[in-house]
Amino acid sequence: MSAPLALVTGSSRGLGREVARRLAEEGFEVLAGVRTPAAMKPLPGVEVLPLDVSDPASIASAAAFVKAQYGHLDVLVNNAGILLDQTTGLLDLTADLLRQTLETNAIGPLLMAQAFAPLMGKGGRIVNVSSAGGQLSRPSTWSPAYCISKTTLNAITVQLAVALKPRGIAVNAVCPGWVRTDMGGPGAPRSLQQGADSILWPVLKADPTITGGLWQDGKRIDW
Ligand SMILES: NC(=O)c1ccc[n+]([C@@H]2O[C@H](COP(=O)([O-])OP(=O)(O)OC[C@H]3O[C@@H](n4cnc5c(N)ncnc54)[C@H](OP(=O)(O)O)[C@@H]3O)[C@@H](O)[C@H]2O)c1
Repeated sequence: MSAPLALVTGSSRGLGREVARRLAEEGFEVLAGVRTPAAMKPLPGVEVLPLDVSDPASIASAAAFVKAQYGHLDVLVNNAGILLDQTTGLLDLTADLLRQTLETNAIGPLLMAQAFAPLMGKGGRIVNVSSAGGQLSRPSTWSPAYCISKTTLNAITVQLAVALKPRGIAVNAVCPGWVRTDMGGPGAPRSLQQGADSILWPVLKADPTITGGLWQDGKRIDW
């Protein structure tokens, strides 16, 4: 039997790269979706797939490649994300900055699910990498575009879970915690390994019938 196939978006660095590395270690065949393939440092057992999740044409050509080359996909990790407004307050947020953030953090994952769900069968799993910043139960004034985009991603997760349940495909959102990456910064309390463990729980540990939740470290957290 061939190895299950996983696609991780935003795998050039940070959590995406670590998740791709770990999935290969776990025996998956792994496609690392990256915007600049030439800049990607190779990872054993990981194939690079050119992919910009803010560009519908790039998503379409990645899906066409996977369909032609493999004919199926077992796991999709929507990890790619941007954080552009750490110093912007909601009352100064421009429509352009909000749109740009939504394109990558929320619309991109939806378009990815639309493009790749047709290649997934029963037991398929989609994981959307969200953030505590998107929890409506924990409102704050920090990075409004980023937080709105992650709240939107959570809503997309719930709707995708309902839409894909009849086909036996699980869709969950995860928060990796505050992790030491380029985005999280060097002062973050959590390691790459801890963040990746949280992202990988719905892929490696959760019962395949679990769908439509927001999780951190394998525990359900409030929306
Ligand atoms: N670090 C944290 O503390 C933390 C906390 C909560 C949630 N998260 C979430 O975890 C995920 C990964 O974060 P990270 O900390 O690893 O961030 P990071 O170090 O800034 O890396 C972001 C990754 O996303 C890629 N990316 C950005 N826009 C893209 C696009 N349009 N198409 C394809 N790839 C794109 C980047 O590629 P390039 O190299 O091409 O720029 C890079 O590989 C994000 O969704 C983030 O919101 C992180």
